[in-house]
Amino acid sequence: MIVLKTNREFELMREACRISAGALKVAGEAVEPGVSTAQIDKIAYDYIVKHGAKPNFLNYAGYPATACISVNNQVIHGIPSKDRIIKAGDIVSIDLGAEINGFNGDNAATFAAGDISPQAQRLCDVTKECLYRGISACVAGGRIGDIGYAVQSYAEANGFSVVRDFVGHGVGRKLHEDPSVPNFGKQGRGIRIMPGMSLAIEPMINEGDYGVRQLSDGWTVVTRDGKLSAHFEHTVAVTTDSTVILTKLD
Ligand code: MF3
Ligand code: CO
Repeated sequence: MIVLKTNREFELMREACRISAGALKVAGEAVEPGVSTAQIDKIAYDYIVKHGAKPNFLNYAGYPATACISVNNQVIHGIPSKDRIIKAGDIVSIDLGAEINGFNGDNAATFAAGDISPQAQRLCDVTKECLYRGISACVAGGRIGDIGYAVQSYAEANGFSVVRDFVGHGVGRKLHEDPSVPNFGKQGRGIRIMPGMSLAIEPMINEGDYGVRQLSDGWTVVTRDGKLSAHFEHTVAVTTDSTVILTKLD
């Protein structure tokens, strides 16, 4: 069931999204060689709690941390650990969200630790551009497939691939709501995009093949071929005349 929000509800949701964005910023600034992923997770936790919100991934389906922190070949859902020390050259995807006022924010970005390879940099740049192209295609009156098409066509034109097994989603009073928002698809297909929808658009783009598998920890998703993966995500609000990025710091 798709839940449409009023402008008043979007205003309430904006606070959750602002805190999510602030937490992602401070977590990203902590990415440095020598730091553990658990240290970054703690920075995110402290920021969210200090701002009066709740880390909405924590205990979600039993998830044990504030953030998902996924390094290099890890695609998503990497569990922060004091034993995972970031090295120079790593790319570090951080995904986190906050809940306040009964609404959720959700956002992600991939950060560079020290100097990274030109190929890793290109993967991050292309994935970020995929997100912004997906957002540009997310307009009232369009279709969900327009978003996937925008992401997929740009990723593949750059020689990368789009993860199929995980998708974006509606977000609101619940972290995950309908509809699903695939990062692949065809223009003009799928559910109509309507004013009042709030969506988490989140391309996961692989350097090599799109195949992924889950590790035995029950969470961490990695590329099957061991190559790199990047992830960028924003929560957006669709209104009659524009689509607004809620997880943006102004
Ligand atoms: N961040 C994921 C998403 O964007 C959700 C993580 S689920 C959790 O949809 F269990 F890890 F929290
Ligand atoms: Co999400």
